[in-house]
Amino acid sequence: MDDLKAKYLGQIANAADEAALEAIRVAAVGKKGEISLKMRELGKMTPEERQVAGPALNALKDEVNAAIAAKKAGLADAALDERLRTEWLDVTLPSRGRPAGTIHPISQVTQEVSAIFADLGFSVAEGPQVEDDWHNFDALNIPSHHPARGEMDTFYMHREAGDNRPPHVLRTHTSPVQIRSMLEHGAPIRVICPGRVYRADYDQTHTPMFHQVEGLAIDKDISMANLKWVLEEFVKSFFEVDGVELRFRASHFPFTEPSAEVDIRCSWENGQLKVGEGDDWLEILGSGMVHPKVLEAGGIDPAEWQGFAFGMGIDRIAMLKYGIPDLRAFFDSDLRWLRHYGFAALDQPDLAAGLSR
Ligand code: DAH
Repeated sequence: MDDLKAKYLGQIANAADEAALEAIRVAAVGKKGEISLKMRELGKMTPEERQVAGPALNALKDEVNAAIAAKKAGLADAALDERLRTEWLDVTLPSRGRPAGTIHPISQVTQEVSAIFADLGFSVAEGPQVEDDWHNFDALNIPSHHPARGEMDTFYMHREAGDNRPPHVLRTHTSPVQIRSMLEHGAPIRVICPGRVYRADYDQTHTPMFHQVEGLAIDKDISMANLKWVLEEFVKSFFEVDGVELRFRASHFPFTEPSAEVDIRCSWENGQLKVGEGDDWLEILGSGMVHPKVLEAGGIDPAEWQGFAFGMGIDRIAMLKYGIPDLRAFFDSDLRWLRHYGFAALDQPDLAAGLSR
């Protein structure tokens, strides 16, 4: 009995890990372990022998089990100490830089424009990019023979022969959203409609897909004076300058009468644009009083209501504000360009805190 005790207590003390400990447990007190087999032999003993050997074997078994439990706890403590030692972390180290995406300048400028017009009481509307030719042309007073249709370099959707649904186009401007907004909400209305538009054109200042924002305000006594004030407020906020001078040049659009193209006073110094001062003029948008036929197409009675509309290139004003020279780079998905001109995800344009920080 003493030999068995010395043997197993010695092995337990030297066990290097839990697996070794388990092997010792099986060999000693497992079902076919040495001590367990000895206990089975008790039945063959005389009652006198059993009275001595029984309690001694039970005590040995208890002692071995207790030693195993104690060693197991000791091994677990040692393992934890080892983990704590090796998994040490210096929380004062600067964090590792994570590759973060950026907000595209077009998205940022769309947000800026929306924030400014929201502050002036305009809501934001969207329309489909695949548009039927009634919304894109006819309703805007551009009938099929009108030269403006040709000038727009329109992308037509493919149609199978015999398909007599109305022709669909990739919308050439955001103006069809005017019609959709009027039909949906009626008058009075103040809305801007930012979004993608498409024309078959490609050079340094034209891409087949680009972005516009349309503005529309209809009420009973809206005039060109309101248009001028709204645009002045917009330009001041957008370019973050205190004063601007706008120049209205008579122009022609089928959907407005009268129509004007609007320029802002600016200067170019060493390729750097300054808005609000200087001897140059920069065209930024087309505008006018909504044509009675367009109001009618939008379900609004032109004898009772009138209003202004304008259309502006988002990419263009983004290039001007952020000094981006080539429009095509907007859509190249060049990561270096995106990191350079992109905005941090949490830089939400906000009139109170400043539009661009
Ligand atoms: N739709 C015109 C274009 O794409 C821009 C435009 C001009 C929109 C005058 C208007 C407007 O609403 O009144 O060139």
